[in-house]
Amino acid sequence: MNVLAINGSARKNGNTHILINRILEKLNCAGIKTQYFEFADSFIKPCRACFACGGIYNCIQKDDVFHTVFENMKSADGIILGSPVYSANISASMQAFLERSAVICDMNAGLLKHKIGVGVVSARRGGALNAVDSINHFFLNHEMFVVGSTYWNMAYGKMEGDVLKDSEAMLNMDNIAENMIWLLKKTIQGER
Ligand SMILES: Cc1cc2nc3c(=O)[nH]c(=O)nc-3n(C[C@H](O)[C@H](O)[C@H](O)COP(=O)(O)O)c2cc1C
Repeated sequence: MNVLAINGSARKNGNTHILINRILEKLNCAGIKTQYFEFADSFIKPCRACFACGGIYNCIQKDDVFHTVFENMKSADGIILGSPVYSANISASMQAFLERSAVICDMNAGLLKHKIGVGVVSARRGGALNAVDSINHFFLNHEMFVVGSTYWNMAYGKMEGDVLKDSEAMLNMDNIAENMIWLLKKTIQGER
């Protein structure tokens, strides 16, 4: 059982990292292998709309980290997508990643089928629900199961570390992790 986490923030150790890490710690304690990628040092190029990904199961653009991250996404049982809120939605890096991934999945049906998805976002004040929705739309459009919690998966904070003061959000991350573990064990054991 393995889970891939992707952080779309431009900051290396910022709030989104803290949220994702809180979930990964719990997954690791439950014996689930995890991998973590971040786009802080990378530039994800936009989709070229060439539709050449049909039958090749990845993007033909090979000069950025997209290829590696997408390969890991294909082999993961669970996917955590974390993003800061930029302009009331997910970051440009995460948007570019999801646009390219979505076209590949449309051209090669079933690539993410039955994987477990968790989306988390950090925001200073506005647009968090849009960002959560954008991530969930991606999961739901590709036959994945979305993990719920007791509130939408968002935390408030501006500067690095501020989300730690949002104690309700941090407890919510623990609950998301528990629900993800439960769903992974229910759906994966005996099936893959
Ligand atoms: C370019 C940019 C745009 C932002 N736009 C918003 C926004 O629309 N709404 C909001 O609440 N916060 C906004 N923020 C604040 C970030 O969402 C917030 O600082 C978040 O915690 C950053 O997470 P990180 O530390 O993982 O990068 C913006 C920050 C940046 C750098």
